[in-house]
Amino acid sequence: MNPPIRKVRKAVLPAAGLGTRFLPATKAQPKEMLPVVDKPLIQYAVEECIASGIENVIIITGRRKNAIEDHFDSAPELEHFLEEHGKPGQADMVRRISGGIHFSYTRQSEALGLGHAVLLARELVGDEPFAVLLGDVILDGPEPGTKSLIDVYAQTGQGAIIVEEVPRERVHLYGIADARPAPDLGFGDRLMRINDVIEKPKREEAPSNLAVTGRYVFPPEIFDCLSRIKPGSGGEIQLTDAMRLLAKEHGLWGYIYDGKTYDAGDKLGFLEATVELALKNVDLGSSFRKYLKSLTL
Ligand code: UTP
Repeated sequence: MNPPIRKVRKAVLPAAGLGTRFLPATKAQPKEMLPVVDKPLIQYAVEECIASGIENVIIITGRRKNAIEDHFDSAPELEHFLEEHGKPGQADMVRRISGGIHFSYTRQSEALGLGHAVLLARELVGDEPFAVLLGDVILDGPEPGTKSLIDVYAQTGQGAIIVEEVPRERVHLYGIADARPAPDLGFGDRLMRINDVIEKPKREEAPSNLAVTGRYVFPPEIFDCLSRIKPGSGGEIQLTDAMRLLAKEHGLWGYIYDGKTYDAGDKLGFLEATVELALKNVDLGSSFRKYLKSLTL
């Protein structure tokens, strides 16, 4: 008999990377705290967790990353100051950043890869399914990406990851899924069965143009897969290698996201996110649009 399918209550947000693609901005401050419009990158991921029904967020931090903990801590002096100065709306906004969800932190003392960072959450996650959200990736669409993955897990009891079509000339930048159409489980054409995942393949060797973009829901068996894989180049433990084992031994689904993904840990992706999300912003959108139109390019 299959074990009962448990509720996905926890999410792991790895945020201990060195952020070398964004130097010099990330020399002394966490990449995950760079603001897109008016919120640090990692707040978008936390808001996606809340919108997806997650109750516990586990953030993997490291040296130079204290600002992340401070951001999600309560700020009574600031709240009091805003209340006293007739800004209850702002006080409420500050309160909501840390309210309604429980945070835990664990440190990765050396950036030994995304897989290594996820494995460090093993004790805090325990024997239950959990989500992983990359702290420098923003998803913008009608439904939170993590919520869609949780729905797939709830129906199948197996792991699921967001995949997205990318241009063929960019496949060498991503983990690429070897996937086939899935049986109809109520998710339509968006659901794919993943056979394998190839990390940064050459264009001619890529099995598809479906890239893995930074949102995952895993059963606890992923920890066993992570502890069995050998470190690759630079001693890094790759999450992709563990997902390959998971796909073979326990099954894995891909879900084609209905929306846009921004890799804001990359300078160009960050600029795209900033411009597009500013255009959609209720307070800034119309004046920013006017400003952009006024530019003679
Ligand atoms: P990235 O590869 O985008 O982050 O990892 P990075 O290594 O910081 O960036 P570059 O390539 O040097 O610019 C995706 C997420 O995984 C975390 C990162 O902080 C980022 O949010 N990560 C990565 C860790 O927590 N630990 C690691 O060892 C590697």
